[in-house]
Amino acid sequence: MSNRTFTMVKPDATGKGYTGAILDQMIKGGFAIKAMKWTRLTPEQAGEFYAIHKERPFYGELVEFMSSGPIVAAILEKENAVADFRKLIGATNPAQAEEGTIRKNFASSVGENAVHGSDSDENAIIEGSFFFSGLERF
Ligand code: CMP
Repeated sequence: MSNRTFTMVKPDATGKGYTGAILDQMIKGGFAIKAMKWTRLTPEQAGEFYAIHKERPFYGELVEFMSSGPIVAAILEKENAVADFRKLIGATNPAQAEEGTIRKNFASSVGENAVHGSDSDENAIIEGSFFFSGLERF
């Protein structure tokens, strides 16, 4: 079990000015920010990041949305990070997310769901390495 996960604040949330409140909820939830950047993905980069979903019907929509505006990418640290972070953000579909979770508080739909959280320790490393060099991931 690793103590790190990877997150993005997605374009819907940055565009609505929720970035500060979302990061605040992550920090209050016990996660320490180990690396962070404000950036914007090209459609090619978004397609590469989400290549695992290439065959899904929503892939095109996902790539278009994730490249539609700025994002905040971050590596977070806490004991049991991946599972605890998924609890903090809530279900992928905000309509099914528990009260008080980040997606319940800030997301509007299954596509525009405010934040990303890695689904495994292995993917946390792959995703963190997509955005941050070895020097930035100390
Ligand atoms: P995320 O956890 O970042 O990883 C994959 C993303 O695909 C997911 O969040 C959702 O935003 C998106 N997604 C999943 N299911 C659907 C869907 N049915 N329609 C549109 N987007 C989806």
